[in-house]
Amino acid sequence: MSITFTPLHPVFAAECSGIDLGEPLSPAAAEAVHAGMDRYAVLVFRRSRPLSTQQQLAFTQSLGELEAPYTTIRAADGMRLDSERLSDISNLGPGDKILPREDRKRLFNLGNQLWHSDSSYKRIPAMYSALCAHVIPPEGGDTEFADMRAAYDMLPASTKRKIDPLAAEHSRIFSKGALGFRFTEQEERDFEPVRQPLVRVHPRSGRRSLFLSSHAGRIVGWPTPEAMLLLRDLSEHATAREFVYRHRWQVGDLVMWDNQATMHRARPFPDDVYPRDLRRTTLTCGAPALASAPFSA
Ligand code: OGA
Ligand code: MN
Repeated sequence: MSITFTPLHPVFAAECSGIDLGEPLSPAAAEAVHAGMDRYAVLVFRRSRPLSTQQQLAFTQSLGELEAPYTTIRAADGMRLDSERLSDISNLGPGDKILPREDRKRLFNLGNQLWHSDSSYKRIPAMYSALCAHVIPPEGGDTEFADMRAAYDMLPASTKRKIDPLAAEHSRIFSKGALGFRFTEQEERDFEPVRQPLVRVHPRSGRRSLFLSSHAGRIVGWPTPEAMLLLRDLSEHATAREFVYRHRWQVGDLVMWDNQATMHRARPFPDDVYPRDLRRTTLTCGAPALASAPFSA
């Protein structure tokens, strides 16, 4: 069966069919998926059943190298999923019980509702994230994606010239802190800001994009209020409806996005009533993004 891409939105995002995600990809199929990611930046794979942990790991690893596990905020009574290599994107704790309202993991994860690029707070940020849906609430809980390449392309030339050489500082302190989340002193030390280019060039497609994220809180060499205003203005532009694809989940879906070319955010749902259980594998860019900035900053 041949691999096909059916666009889901005028500027990006496509449904990919003709691939059995339950098997590791052949090199030719992996190349076709990379080419689809270069073009669409978000690929939706629909399946009738969610992948097992092993299947999801094998699929993702045929496209690149998994990101190393990072300091996570655990639910009060421990981890729910057994594998450190899967991120638990759920409102559940051990025993699949809905997390209490004040649980730190719940409060921390609420930050996923801010537009972001995964792991932009790491010196070596994420390449692709693959999120598989196990349990979906009957209302709410969609995920939105925004195309940072189209957003860059649509900027006035004078803005491009101004922002091309800039670098921003990213930390979870900025994103979760904007929501009033409180960090311990140890966490504040762990979440030291890292520098990222504000405009990045995709290593495969060569396309430029805005490297925005709620984790971005400073611009190197700029006064903070001016930096925050520029970041807000750019984010407002980049998340205008024309650049946004909204995914309504079905159980079994696997959605993979390129963090080098998009931002995403979760939408709210009644998380005190319904379980929502998604599991993420994440590939690393392998090298700092700043080295691939259009001009050195
Ligand atoms: C993620 C994420 C959004 C969602 O998995 O990285 O931000 O809708 N998820 O759960
Ligand atoms: Mn995310």
